[in-house]
Amino acid sequence: MSEPKPTYRHDYRPPAYRVRHTELRFDLEPGATRVRARLHVERHPERQAGEPLVLDGEQLLLTSIAIDGQALAEAEYALSDTGLTVLRPPERFLLDTEVEISPRENTALEGLYLSNGMYCTQCEAEGFRRITYYPDRPDVMATFSTTVVGDKATLPVLLSNGNPVERGELPDGRHFVTWDDPFPKPSYLFALVAGDLQKVEDRFTTMSGRDVTLQIWVEKANLGKTDHAMASLKRAMQWDEQTYGREYDLDLFMIVAVDDFNMGAMENKGLNIFNTAAVLTHPHTATDATFQRVEGIVAHEYFHNWSGNRVTCRDWFQLSLKEGFTVFRDQCFSADVNSAPVKRIEDVAFFRTAQFAEDAGPTAHPVRPDHYIEIGNFYTLTIYEKGAEVVRMLCNLVGWEAFRRGSDLYFERFDGQAVTIEDFVDCMAEASGLDLSQFMLWYSQAGTPEIDAHGEYDYANAEYRLTLRQRTPATPDQPEKLALHIPIRMGLVGTKSGRDLALTLDGKPLDRDGVIHLREAEQTFVFTDVPEAPVPSLLRGFSAPVQLRFPYGREDLAFLLANDSDGFNRWDAGQRLAMLALDDLIAAHRNGVEKVMDPRVVEAFRALLERGSKDKAVMAEMLTLPSEAYIAEQQPLVDVEAIHAARTFVEQSLAAALSDDFLRLYEENRSDIPYAPTPEQIGQRSLKNVALSYLMAIEDEQAVALAHQQFEADHNMTDVRHALTLLVHSSRDDLADPALRAFGEKWAHEPLVMDQWFAIQVTRPQTDALERVRYLMGHPAFSLKNPNRVRALVGTFANQNRINFHRTDGEGYRLLTDVVIELNRLNPEIAARLVTPLTRWQRFDEPRQELMKGELERIRAEKLSPNVYEVIEKALA
Ligand code: PHE
Ligand code: ZN
Repeated sequence: MSEPKPTYRHDYRPPAYRVRHTELRFDLEPGATRVRARLHVERHPERQAGEPLVLDGEQLLLTSIAIDGQALAEAEYALSDTGLTVLRPPERFLLDTEVEISPRENTALEGLYLSNGMYCTQCEAEGFRRITYYPDRPDVMATFSTTVVGDKATLPVLLSNGNPVERGELPDGRHFVTWDDPFPKPSYLFALVAGDLQKVEDRFTTMSGRDVTLQIWVEKANLGKTDHAMASLKRAMQWDEQTYGREYDLDLFMIVAVDDFNMGAMENKGLNIFNTAAVLTHPHTATDATFQRVEGIVAHEYFHNWSGNRVTCRDWFQLSLKEGFTVFRDQCFSADVNSAPVKRIEDVAFFRTAQFAEDAGPTAHPVRPDHYIEIGNFYTLTIYEKGAEVVRMLCNLVGWEAFRRGSDLYFERFDGQAVTIEDFVDCMAEASGLDLSQFMLWYSQAGTPEIDAHGEYDYANAEYRLTLRQRTPATPDQPEKLALHIPIRMGLVGTKSGRDLALTLDGKPLDRDGVIHLREAEQTFVFTDVPEAPVPSLLRGFSAPVQLRFPYGREDLAFLLANDSDGFNRWDAGQRLAMLALDDLIAAHRNGVEKVMDPRVVEAFRALLERGSKDKAVMAEMLTLPSEAYIAEQQPLVDVEAIHAARTFVEQSLAAALSDDFLRLYEENRSDIPYAPTPEQIGQRSLKNVALSYLMAIEDEQAVALAHQQFEADHNMTDVRHALTLLVHSSRDDLADPALRAFGEKWAHEPLVMDQWFAIQVTRPQTDALERVRYLMGHPAFSLKNPNRVRALVGTFANQNRINFHRTDGEGYRLLTDVVIELNRLNPEIAARLVTPLTRWQRFDEPRQELMKGELERIRAEKLSPNVYEVIEKALA
C-alpha cells in the first residue's frame, strides 16, 4: 500500500472552478442509495481556461455523468479511488452525476449512514465526498436545493438544510420533501436526516422581530428529554444578539439527536446534528455535569451559525478560526449564565491537564498546523481549547469594546466568504489600532511556553523587582522557538494588609486590569512605591496558556489561598499548595520512606472550611485535589503508583483530620427540594458530594451508610451516580454489587445511563478493573460500532483508570491495542483518538516504554487507515 501523503498549508491554491448552486436528489435505500447531483459550475475568474475540474469522491459507484445534458465519453474524464477529474470542461456548465452508496455498510460514521434505522449524515471535514463527487473543500460555497425521497411508512420525516419548499407523494409508498438553503455554504455543512422521528417545537422572536421556529427531533422514547436543550438554545440565541449583535437568519432551526455519532455535535446550516449524549437530559438520567455540557454544546453549535457558517474557513488549516472563536464564545456564554469563576476553573483544570499533555507529546501541533495527513486527526484540544485561549488573550489585549468592533467588522467584511486566521486578527488590529504581529506567533508555534518567574522586594527603595524568563520547548519539526507576546495579569498582595497594592511600573500606574506584557525572552519589571513586602499573584484568571513557575513557599500559598482578590488564583494557590505536598509524598513513596502529611496543608484546608464561601461551586473546586492526570503532567517522569499512592494518602489524611467538617458540610448541603439544574443547586450538590468523597476516603461505617442512603434515596442522577461510584470504588462489594445490579436493570433501556454504568465500573481502582473491562466488552449492551459505548468503556478505562491501565504486565496496553486494531477497520476516526494514551510512552519508565512501543508496533503492522497511520507514525518517530 502506498503511504498516505501529507497536505501542506503553503500549497493552498484557490479552486479552479466554483459551484454556484447545487441540486441534490437522494433515493434512500439502506444498501443502495442513489444520489443525483446537478452542479452549476463556472471557472474561477482568475484561472485559465481549459484547466481540469477536480472533484473529490470516495467509495462511490458512478452510474452516469453528463455535462449540459450530454453524457461524457470515457476519454473525457478520469476516475480514481479519491475522485473524478473532468479533463476539459467548458467555462460555465451544468454537471450531472449519479452515484450509488451504501449507508448500511458505513461504520465510519462519515458521509451518509444509518443509526438505529435512521439515516443521517456527517460531512465535516471531508465526509461529503462519500456522498457524491464534489469539490469537497470549504472555499467552494454554493446554495443547495435538496430533494429527499424515502419510504413513507418507515421514514415519515425527511430533513435537510434550510426551508422545506415542496413535499409530495410518490408511487410505491414513497414520498419526498425538497429543501432550499439560500445561504451559500461549503459541502461540510450539508446535512440530511430521515427516519421515524418526533419533534418538540418552540419559537424565538429575533431582535429585529422575525419569528423563528425551533425544533428538536428525537426518537419517540426521548421526547421527555429535550426541555433543557430547548431552553439552552433560546438563551444562546438571545445571548448572541445581546453580546455580539448576531441574529439568526433562517425561519427554521432544527436539532436532531442520533445515537451513533463520532463527536459531540455538528453545526450543519439550520440542521444541527447532535450525539444524544450532547443534547438529551432528564433529572433522572443526566447528571449536573451533563446538563451543563448540553447547555454549552447547544450554544456552541448555535454560535457557529455566524462564527463558522456565515463566515467559514478558507482551508482546513484555518480550523481554529471557527473553533477557537466559537469555543471562546460558548465559554463566555456558560460563564454568564452560570457561576463564572467555576466555569473558568473547570476549563483551566481540564486544559492544563489534557491540552498541556497534547502539546508536550508527539502529536503536538500549532493552533494553525502546517501540514496534516488526515484532517480528522486535528479536531484537537490545541485547535479548540488552545485556540479559544488565544482568542481570549486577543479579547483581553484589545479590550471588549474593540474586540466587539473587530468582531462586527469581521462578520460584515467576510459574510458569505471562506477566510483565514489573518483576516480575523487583522480585524482586531484594525479595530484596536494595536500591532498584533508578534502575537501571531501563538498561531504558528506549538508547545506550552514555560515561564520562570522570581521576585525580590527591596525594603530600602520600596521596590519589587519581578523577573520573567520565557522558553517554549522544542516540538516535532519546530526545534527553535521565538519569544511570544504573553499578557500576564497580576497583582502584588501586601503581606501586612492582605490587600492588592497599587502598582506603579515605569513611573506610571499599571492599567486597571493589572496586565504586564512579556515580549522578550527575559524581562524585569520594577514596581515602585511598594509600601510593604508583597506576595505576587501571577497569571490571574489564567491570562495566557502557559506553565508559570514561581518559587512560592507554603506560607505564601496559604496566604494567597486566604487573601488573593482573584478567585481563580485563590483556587490555583490551593492547587499549588497541594502539589508541593504531593511532590514530597511521591518522593517518599519512591524512596520507601514513611509518608507524613504536611500539617500546613491540613491547616490551610481547615481554614478554608471555616471561612466557607458564598459560591458553593467554587468551594467544591477549592476542596478538590489535582487529578492523577494533572499531577502526572507536572512530573518529569510519571510514576504511576507513586502518584496514585500520594494522592490517596493526601485525601485520606485530609479526611481523617477534617472529618467533622466534611460531615457538617455534607449535612448542611443535603436537600430534598425538587431537582433543577440551577447554578445554586449544582453548587450545593457539588459541595455535598465532594464532602462525601472525603468521608468515603476513610470508609468508616457512617460514610458508607451515607453513600448507601444517598444511592437508595434515588433523588436525582447526580447524587445517585456519585454515591454509586463511591460504593463501587470502595472495598464494600457487598453493597456495591447489588447496587450496580439494580442500577443496570433499572436503566437497561437507556443507552446514555448504561454508558455511565460502564464508566463507573471501569474506573474502579481495584486490581480487577481490567478483567471487568474485558468482561463488560462481552456484555450484550456493548458494541464497538457505537462510539459512546467505546468511549464509556474503553476510553474511560484508558484515560481515567491510570493505575490499572498502566499495569506493569502490559495487559492494559494490550487491551487498548486490540480495540484500536478492530476499530481501525470499523471507524478510523475513533480508533485514532482512542490510541492517544499509548502515544505518550515517553513520559513513563523504561519497562512501560518498551511495552507501549511494542503495542504501537503491533498496530503499525496492520493495514492502517490514514487516521491511525498518521498518529502511529508520529508516536514512533
Ligand atoms: N464542528 C463540530 C463542532 O465543533 C465538531 C465536529 C467535527 C463534528 C467533525 C463532527 C465531525 O462543533
Ligand atoms: Zn465547533
